[in-house]
Amino acid sequence: MKRKLLLISLISLLTALVLSACAGNVESTPEENSDMEQESDSMEEGMDHSSMDDDAMADGHMSHDEVVSLNDSTGENELKIPPLLESDNEEEVVYTVRAQEGETEIFDGTKTKTYGYNGSFLGPVLQFEKGDTVKIRTINELDEETTFHWHGLEVSGEEDGGPHNSLKPGEEELIEFEVTQEASTLWFHPHPEGKTSEQVYNGLAGLIYIEDDNSKSLGLPNEYGKNDIPLIFQDKTFDNQKQLNYSAAMNDDGTIGDMSLVNGTLNPKLTVDKEKVRLRLLNGSNARNYTFKLNTGDSFVQVATDGGFLNKPVTLDEITLTPSERAEIIIDFSQLNSEDEFALINEEDGSILLPFEVSDQSGEDSSIPEEMNDFSITEEEMNLPVTKNVELFGMMDMVTINGKKFDPERIDFTQEQGVTEVWEIYNKPDMMGGMIHPFHIHGAQFKIISRNGEEPPENERGWKDSISIEPDETVKIAVKFQHKGVYMFHCHILEHEDNGMMGQVKVE
Ligand code: C2O
Ligand code: CU
Ligand code: CU
Repeated sequence: MKRKLLLISLISLLTALVLSACAGNVESTPEENSDMEQESDSMEEGMDHSSMDDDAMADGHMSHDEVVSLNDSTGENELKIPPLLESDNEEEVVYTVRAQEGETEIFDGTKTKTYGYNGSFLGPVLQFEKGDTVKIRTINELDEETTFHWHGLEVSGEEDGGPHNSLKPGEEELIEFEVTQEASTLWFHPHPEGKTSEQVYNGLAGLIYIEDDNSKSLGLPNEYGKNDIPLIFQDKTFDNQKQLNYSAAMNDDGTIGDMSLVNGTLNPKLTVDKEKVRLRLLNGSNARNYTFKLNTGDSFVQVATDGGFLNKPVTLDEITLTPSERAEIIIDFSQLNSEDEFALINEEDGSILLPFEVSDQSGEDSSIPEEMNDFSITEEEMNLPVTKNVELFGMMDMVTINGKKFDPERIDFTQEQGVTEVWEIYNKPDMMGGMIHPFHIHGAQFKIISRNGEEPPENERGWKDSISIEPDETVKIAVKFQHKGVYMFHCHILEHEDNGMMGQVKVE
């Protein structure tokens, strides 16, 4: 980290020097930064780009192997399963969700100060059914402003819980919406301007399950907590007092921790029967990417993306999720060699995330249907012209979208409700090569048309609300908003978001 900071300062200094020399002025102020970046674009275009990048990379651009490794789970604690939130009454779906402070025993015998929804750490699972009218009483019991954002949910801008829907300490708000989208695993977290990363880091995050007729008839494992398991992966740093000290751990380029928590459990293990087990994976970390893999190299099957089921199950050896992405996978423990010890590992650093203890019990005999959904990209969508261009650029606190930082007063794009437009997102490399930015749009599930002109991989041919974008990669997506309002689009490295890597689209 230190090395990286040094390198960045050096490079910014050099850039500033070169630029000021060109422009004939010696002072450079931060306000000139965006202009400077533009000048440097045109300069770079005239230069031999590739060799420059190579040199910079050889000089030690931070690559993934320099990200601090996670601890290996010892498996000494049974995985905590978040409670399912009960409706306040039987006639209608009414939930009360409180953001609150608390203390959590993450380490035996020590209390760690944390945030949570309806509890001290993380939150319960909210269950909706397609067609439901849902009311949620949101209450801010924190000492600071917060918002309640429903990530992946197609609701109007008023209900979306972006930075404009901020609640002061003690305030509450009743929101109401209809669930119109298909079965999926979504999540909720705060979104106050400039404070999202700290509040999520402290523990504000929960899951939303949407069910529909299709999901209930597919016959996939669906016994909550038994063979249908929610898994929220997060990495944290604890100080000497075993506290989450965000300002000490904080990194402008994305806060990475060295301790792995799954559903807030340190050193977790999951006990399963010899049956198919459905894991609903959420990368709920501020910045870390995870590549999930079985330690034995056995394959598993992915059945759902962020926003719904894939048409067909896709067999994989590993799956990468960048922050805020979800996937539902199924591991068939009845088919695995019972002599082996199984664990979900993170292939990025080899760490053991979640060991499994497989019981002798044979469990349920569920099956994975060959056809699960009717997702498609139409010829018409494929042929639409690109009408929105998004350029992601920068690192640390110098991140921008289309050369600009977030301004709550500025609307960057407008789009018509119910009309599909093609957005082209480009991750522009910098002199150090650049980094992956996970790109997310509020209020819509979208379709990936292409990655660098190619058809997306099989397991991305389904509804998405967050996508990984590699340096120099161009991704085309078809976006349709079902509702009106102002929605955010941003990098889901939460510190990048807070540093202004966010724009607004107004749907009317
Ligand atoms: Cu997880 Cu702006 O969202
Ligand atoms: Cu969101
Ligand atoms: Cu980013």
